[in-house]
Amino acid sequence: MTAVPDRFGRPLRNLRLSVTDRCNLRCQYCMPEEDYVWLPKANVLTFEEMARLVDVFSSLGVDKVRLTGGEPLLRSDLPVLVRMLAAKPAIRDIALTTNGVLLKDHAVALREAGLQRVTVSLDTLDRATFRLLSRRDDLPRVLDGIAAASAAGFTGTKLDTVVIAGVNDGELPALVDFARANGSEIRFIEYMDVGGATHWRMDRVVTRARMLQQLTAAFGPIREIPRSDSAPAERFELADGTTFGIIASVTRPFCGTCDRARLTADGMWFTCLYATTGADLRELARSGADNAALARAIATTWTGRTDRGAEVRAGLPDRTPLADQAMLRSSPHLEMHTRGG
Ligand code: GTP
Ligand code: 5AD
Ligand code: SF4
Repeated sequence: MTAVPDRFGRPLRNLRLSVTDRCNLRCQYCMPEEDYVWLPKANVLTFEEMARLVDVFSSLGVDKVRLTGGEPLLRSDLPVLVRMLAAKPAIRDIALTTNGVLLKDHAVALREAGLQRVTVSLDTLDRATFRLLSRRDDLPRVLDGIAAASAAGFTGTKLDTVVIAGVNDGELPALVDFARANGSEIRFIEYMDVGGATHWRMDRVVTRARMLQQLTAAFGPIREIPRSDSAPAERFELADGTTFGIIASVTRPFCGTCDRARLTADGMWFTCLYATTGADLRELARSGADNAALARAIATTWTGRTDRGAEVRAGLPDRTPLADQAMLRSSPHLEMHTRGG
């Protein structure tokens, strides 16, 4: 399938599909507030509506789908959706990004339904730090969830750590050791000024350079693995062959190869993580538009796409969070837990 190129020649290949805006954690880099404005239930797409939109996206080049949230495992019967997507020959990769809290209960069913890969957020191995960071005492459940994923037969599991200065930045070597022992790959993510990250400050970002310094001090020389795809992570290898990734969205944005689109649980379509406006595909789909009309609307938007949100942010002299609390309350679609992390 030749994918539709945008204005900079970037193909539309990767769809991040948020299945719910709810979450059972309150990570301070994502959901630091006391309460939230949730998407009205009636607006949330059914699995049939999601599967239909995936068909339309795949007719334009999408062949990878990642289910996200909020916390996607809060959506009832998620394996039903996975099975519907896995039956589509045009979709060659179906992955899930989860916080792991409920993974133990669902790993086997997801695997049986045809889910290929899981990414679990793991910011710390310390129970007190986890509680501080996520306002829930769920580290043991997350660790059980990671173990359950391996036991269910998932391979190629990734663990994602958002690194925040003074919170978990002393744990990088321990997290590498944990991932190695678990047969998964850890990726360290620079703390971004996006969505609900209202407490973001540049001095809380642990840069890629500092992460590499710390890891070199712990493990010795690190080799950079040449890039071969459009994924956000740069990959590295230790002398013993252990690999890990760094997602340097703040100091080394990767907009130049971005082939990702995001669909929220209520069918708003965003062509950039930092986009402040999106296209209402729910409205269009529910108003009787057929698949050809939906495809035309999506193709028109993508062909005109010039987004390079993270690069634009990197050029700002005095960088402050993208949105403040008032903006987030009036435009919940700006939230990372709404548009899919
Ligand atoms: P695969 O390549 O399919 O494994 O996916 P991935 O690496 O995109 O997976 P994942 O969902 O784990 O993304 C990891 C993290 O990268 C996200 O949680 C974000 O923090 C960041 N990220 C993903 N997409 C984007 C993007 O479009 N822009 C920026 N700046 N960051 C992103
Ligand atoms: N900075 C970086 N990554 C973030 N995520 C959410 N908020 C942020 C942020 N401010 C990503 C993390 C998390 C996933 C669900 O969303 O990778 O693991
Ligand atoms: Fe944390 Fe993800 Fe939930 Fe945000 S959506 S609070 S990052 S688990």
